[in-house]
Amino acid sequence: MAVSRKQFLQLLAGFGLATVAGCAKSDERVKVGFIVKQPEEPWFQNEWKFAQQAADKYGFELIKIGATDGDKVLAAIDNLATRGAGGFVICAPNPRLGTAIQQRAKANDLKVMSVDDRLIGSNDQPIEAIPHVGISATKIGALAGETIAAEAKRRGWNLAEVGLLRISFDSLQTARDRTMGAQEALIKAGLRPENVYDATQRTSDTEGGFNAASPVLTRQANVRHWAIVGMNDETVLGGVRAAEGLGMKADAVIACGIGGSGTAEAEFAKTDATGFVATILLSPRQHGYDTAEAMYRWIKEGVAPAPLTYTSGQVMNRDNWQALKAREDA
Ligand code: GLA
Repeated sequence: MAVSRKQFLQLLAGFGLATVAGCAKSDERVKVGFIVKQPEEPWFQNEWKFAQQAADKYGFELIKIGATDGDKVLAAIDNLATRGAGGFVICAPNPRLGTAIQQRAKANDLKVMSVDDRLIGSNDQPIEAIPHVGISATKIGALAGETIAAEAKRRGWNLAEVGLLRISFDSLQTARDRTMGAQEALIKAGLRPENVYDATQRTSDTEGGFNAASPVLTRQANVRHWAIVGMNDETVLGGVRAAEGLGMKADAVIACGIGGSGTAEAEFAKTDATGFVATILLSPRQHGYDTAEAMYRWIKEGVAPAPLTYTSGQVMNRDNWQALKAREDA
């Protein structure tokens, strides 16, 4: 049978693919993807670090991908499929990508679970079919608010005269719940609702917090004492830096972050205390190790993860941060 050049090339290509597929098949190691929205943020670095510990323990391959926008997320999912992954854990750059992520995972026969930020479906509700691990946001926010109230009391501040800077990112449910939880706790402790000032951030990093806070603080020049809350340590630190830039130092500001990763540690390690008095330490181990482990078991043993898990947090400050970190890393 005569074979044309084109047919010959097609045969060759087909043979090549079969060989590659054969190789992929013979590599029996389970592969788990771990996609995060902000790979440079210490929190996500920590999640990856603990996920890698799970991979080392169980002998699966962890494929870490940073995806900062929707196109990158979809490309990452395709890439995971090409590399033979069985599923992935994701903290998406926008929860509204939920439906697209779910469809893309399905088309590629990949299992998916979310971490940190819960994915939203086309009906504007969380996608319940995607297992999720997140923080108990309202409670953790309340703990941040109570921590600030306790420090205000210690300083002898009258909470009725304190301004609350709520650096907000309300399109993200967990961010809204965190800061509203803090706000409610402070109002319960005596802060006046009319003294709450929202500052909307565009990005959830320190620069985003700084840019949101600066104009609001500038406008309220008559407020002498500030409480500052936000969705994470970076945001709150941005607010503290903005206050410092306007001449308000540690004695004029009580800020409490949420996270407890490198950003807060660096602040607590400084010789002189700043307005960033505390943070609520979360568990990157549970968010990184436990999710990667759960995905591995789902792929390997067919055991689906718990549909919904909420993790807790504890107060971390200049006095206890080193002891708490040692415990987390142990
Ligand atoms: C969100 C925030 C992160 C971190 C996690 C914790 O994703 O953007 O900074 O706080 O939640 O769940």
